[in-house]
Amino acid sequence: MAVTKDDVLASLARVSCPDGTPLHKSGALSDVLATDGKGFFSITVDGAQVKAWEPVRKQAEEVVRAMPGVISAMVALTAERKGGGGAAPQRPSPASSGAAAPRPAPRGEGTIGVPGVESIIAVASGKGGVGKSTTAVNLALGLATLGLKVGVLDADIYGPSLPKLLAIKERPQTAGGTRLKPISRYGLTVMSIGFVVDEETPMIWRGPMVISALTQMLREVEWGTLDVMVVDMPPGTGDAQLTMAQQVPLKGAVIVSTPQDLALIDARRGIAMFRRVNVPVLGIVENMSYFQCPECGTRSDIFGHGGARHEAERLGVPFLGEVPLHMTIREKSDAGLPVVATEPDGPHAKAYCEIAARVRDQLKGTGRAAPKIVIER
Ligand SMILES: Nc1ncnc2c1ncn2[C@@H]1O[C@H](COP(=O)(O)OP(=O)(O)OP(=O)(O)O)[C@@H](O)[C@H]1O
Ligand SMILES: [Mg+2]
Repeated sequence: MAVTKDDVLASLARVSCPDGTPLHKSGALSDVLATDGKGFFSITVDGAQVKAWEPVRKQAEEVVRAMPGVISAMVALTAERKGGGGAAPQRPSPASSGAAAPRPAPRGEGTIGVPGVESIIAVASGKGGVGKSTTAVNLALGLATLGLKVGVLDADIYGPSLPKLLAIKERPQTAGGTRLKPISRYGLTVMSIGFVVDEETPMIWRGPMVISALTQMLREVEWGTLDVMVVDMPPGTGDAQLTMAQQVPLKGAVIVSTPQDLALIDARRGIAMFRRVNVPVLGIVENMSYFQCPECGTRSDIFGHGGARHEAERLGVPFLGEVPLHMTIREKSDAGLPVVATEPDGPHAKAYCEIAARVRDQLKGTGRAAPKIVIER
């Protein structure tokens, strides 16, 4: 029998808040979403009391997960900052984001990396739909062909792409307690919120919940030992992206842009965002750089090819390479058969592998230890 919201609320009567009030009567619960055997909700607490509430969060998750008919449960702590410092309630529009981004505090000392993970890099853009996720997956595969152990974290909580790009339907197994085992595909270790939440599930996440979900995916997943973790970022440069850039201990960022002026303006915003939070920009990839006719191979620069290379020079960041607009990349990508894995000897794989080699060299060049961050839970 399907688990309902009322069933979940009833089970939460067994969980007590730090002051002894039953959780379901505390007023701290968000709306409870119960769908297809999965339960999600957040507990809103005073930012100063996050530590005291963490056991409550854990217990709530365990209680819901133990309910008959429940397959998975995710409970996030939402720490409301006084003075309206919370993040945006919805996916920020890539087009409108950026200008209104809050001033971040630069990341400082006293922060922690992910144990076992040498370098975490973000693949980002200011604009949606420029091919970030496609680039992230193929870049990760390219890094793996260089002999590195590579993971991919899908940080696009609102619109996860990895289930589709890697044709992953299975659910991650638990590894005891609340930890999850990531999924392996084409030699990559991968994790996405899309593996635990169905595509149709309405995204009720608010900004702070997104951060909590992200930190859970970073820290409560058995990533093992990785040389590089590639993080596929959501589009835009709004509050949510900015906070992510601060919360994830990034060693660098790869910016994806198409050659058009408008996309380049957004790419510039992306670069500015990472610079503000002191994350080195490893370089720009020009995606959909030129059109290559699948029939005759003729190349046409329909978008004014080369814009990203010039922009990289202008901004003083490395140019990492270009990837053509090609039907094979789209078809393969959308079918969960990324070109680097499935056509490793083809020209597109070569382009991605060259980009990967430059990223690896840039990473060596940054010579920084993974910056450490304070995780707020
Ligand atoms: N070089 C390319 N040639 C042809 N199609 C491409 C190329 N790169 C990406 N695409 C296609 O463009 C679409 C958008 O790509 P993708 O999902 O990677 O973009 P994104 O920037 O991650 O989008 P979002 O902002 O929604 O996260 C997909 O259908 C993908 O297959
Ligand atoms: Mg994407």
